[in-house]
Amino acid sequence: MPTKSSTTSDTEATAAKSNASENNTATENKSEKDSTMKAGNATVVKSEMKNAPLHKFFVDALKDIYYAEEAIVGALEKMQEAATTEELKDAFEDHQLQTKKHISRLEKVFRSIDETPEKKKCDAIEGIIKEGEEVIKSTKEGTMTRDAALIIAAQKVEHYEIATYGGLVQLAITMGHDKAADLLDKTLQEEEDTDYNLTEIAETYINFEAEQED
Ligand SMILES: [Fe+2]
Ligand SMILES: [Fe+2]
Repeated sequence: MPTKSSTTSDTEATAAKSNASENNTATENKSEKDSTMKAGNATVVKSEMKNAPLHKFFVDALKDIYYAEEAIVGALEKMQEAATTEELKDAFEDHQLQTKKHISRLEKVFRSIDETPEKKKCDAIEGIIKEGEEVIKSTKEGTMTRDAALIIAAQKVEHYEIATYGGLVQLAITMGHDKAADLLDKTLQEEEDTDYNLTEIAETYINFEAEQED
């Protein structure tokens, strides 16, 4: 029966149309709801992330090394003045410039995780720097012994930095802070290079000549 069939199909078409329009409205409502939920979730995730103990520790450790890098700039100034050889003076000068770069890189790290750069007193670096000052007091000016001792003092600084940055890179990777991880890793590589260069300077002739001094 064509008429009935046509009526049926008209009814079906109308029903389908009405369903489609209901579906459209439902889809619109759903996507609106989804985006509201997404925005809401992002806020929840952000505040949850900021309250997580590991995130707090990470930020605290950044504040610690931010303080340390600033303190190192001042220490290197004194070490450069105290050094005997031009080679070591130059190495300390280069390291000072590099340390200033590390400070501005740390500021980028803070911003990449939506935190404000802040310093927190680092007792460890204060102690290592104090030891470096003792080295200057306890060695004679113009001697190779002073340079040999200053190199070790500077390497203690490097090793503190390497331990800190090495750990922070891994934490940043774990927490998915990719940009922070990249920036911290760049600094870590430079600290390792500086440490290596200091060993080279010591072993080329400074340690040998220091051994000849009486
Ligand atoms: Fe540094
Ligand atoms: Fe360094």
